[in-house]
Amino acid sequence: MNEMEKLKAEVKKKGLKYHIITYGCQMNAHESEKIAGILENIGYTPANSKEDADFILFNTCCVRENAEQKTFGNVGRIKKLKQLNQDMLVAVCGCMMQQEKAAKKLMETFPFVDIIFGTHNLHELPGMILSYKSGGERFYSAPETQELHDDVPQKRAEGPLASVNIMYGCNNFCSYCIVPYVRGRERSRSAEDVMREVSGLTAQGYREVMLLGQNVNSYDGGINFARLLKRICGETDIPRIRFMTSHPKDLSDELIEVIAAYPQICRHIHLPVQSGSSRVLRKMNRKYTREAYIALAEKIRERIPGIAITTDIIVGFPGETDVDFGDTLSLVKRLRFDSAFTFVYSPRSGTQAAEMPDQVDEALRTERIMELVALQNKITEERNREYEGKTTQVLVEGISTRNPGHVCGRTSTSKMVNFEGGADLIGHFVDVKITRGKKTTLFGTLVEEGM
Ligand code: SAH
Ligand code: SF4
Ligand code: F3S
Repeated sequence: MNEMEKLKAEVKKKGLKYHIITYGCQMNAHESEKIAGILENIGYTPANSKEDADFILFNTCCVRENAEQKTFGNVGRIKKLKQLNQDMLVAVCGCMMQQEKAAKKLMETFPFVDIIFGTHNLHELPGMILSYKSGGERFYSAPETQELHDDVPQKRAEGPLASVNIMYGCNNFCSYCIVPYVRGRERSRSAEDVMREVSGLTAQGYREVMLLGQNVNSYDGGINFARLLKRICGETDIPRIRFMTSHPKDLSDELIEVIAAYPQICRHIHLPVQSGSSRVLRKMNRKYTREAYIALAEKIRERIPGIAITTDIIVGFPGETDVDFGDTLSLVKRLRFDSAFTFVYSPRSGTQAAEMPDQVDEALRTERIMELVALQNKITEERNREYEGKTTQVLVEGISTRNPGHVCGRTSTSKMVNFEGGADLIGHFVDVKITRGKKTTLFGTLVEEGM
């Protein structure tokens, strides 16, 4: 028996279980599915909770400071569980661990963490476990790489939705953002690979595929993103396709036309604006102005009626004045986003913005975020109320967490809809008449079952 076979036999004999705790964005959620796939290949089975697990993994995020603090707090609390279980392995991986300083600090603070690795070497996890078990290093940091490692197994979440990573990394270096430093340069999967994966998922019964990338519309896998979407629509039977995240500077007319032409592409674009002030946008290195963003959003709405546009906004960027913040508020009022993720600027060491003078006072940042959140909440609710009385198609994803007699799913515009129904509806497209539009959810009644 080789080392790997021995490990597999041990895992199987002892019935060892794993539990993954994931922070951060869709990309991390996707990669946690890959980690789960790797572990299940070794023989681990999913645990119900961390208390029940023999291998606990934290897949971390470092995009804002509070994400990092949360990780430190939660990893610390694992110590007790580790002491109770001889077989317990603890691993910390992901974006935060790709920063050498943070990885070293974690390693020193928590000697009970056994394995630490970054974003470039997830596929090497089986080797890391073996090496750790034979007394090897705890810290596995792989240098940035242009290689793609997509050939890892994946344990997908239950339900009709699947995510497909089409590109990795980011070249944009927005001045506030750590992502390009922890995810490396942009590299795209070949169109053939993506087509094969989407066809396979369709054949397995998945009804909606989300194409993922930090900057998905700068995809270049031999063909551009618009053409990739067109090929997926033309050559596969996947009923619904979404994608995230789009950068405004790369959102071409060609892409808008492809979305307009194919109804299976969801009527939703997540288009982070970050600020409504051209002066701040320049300092953020976003490569578009307020006017260009407004013109783009209006063009999209004109060409694709009914499309939902959502966004990300940062308040309190260094040097942001009352006038700049007022520009953000006025842009939000003018464009009336369907919803927005709003963030208080968080200085990230190593980024350009962290070195800028005039960091905005914390009290002022808090005041601004509260004003922005109140405004956007009101708009989101008003937008959701526009659905009242209308019938809309929903892909049912699962049983509602709040009400076991109800199911929930999303519209093509990415609105969450909740209505009375049973598990037999999961994975089906149904028409739902909306009776109530609230801030985060639409409520309705089933009209008829579709395809
Ligand atoms: N690649 C995507 C998402 C990146 S991270 C994009 O470009 O849109 C998601 C969001 O986090 C960003 O859109 C931004 O609004 C926010 N963000 C990134 N760095 C931040 C920081 N240092 N402080 C506060 N918010 C930040
Ligand atoms: Fe960060 Fe900007 Fe890249 Fe998005 S586009 S990941 S905000 S650097
Ligand atoms: Fe966070 Fe990494 Fe995503 S820093 S937002 S998990 S790419």
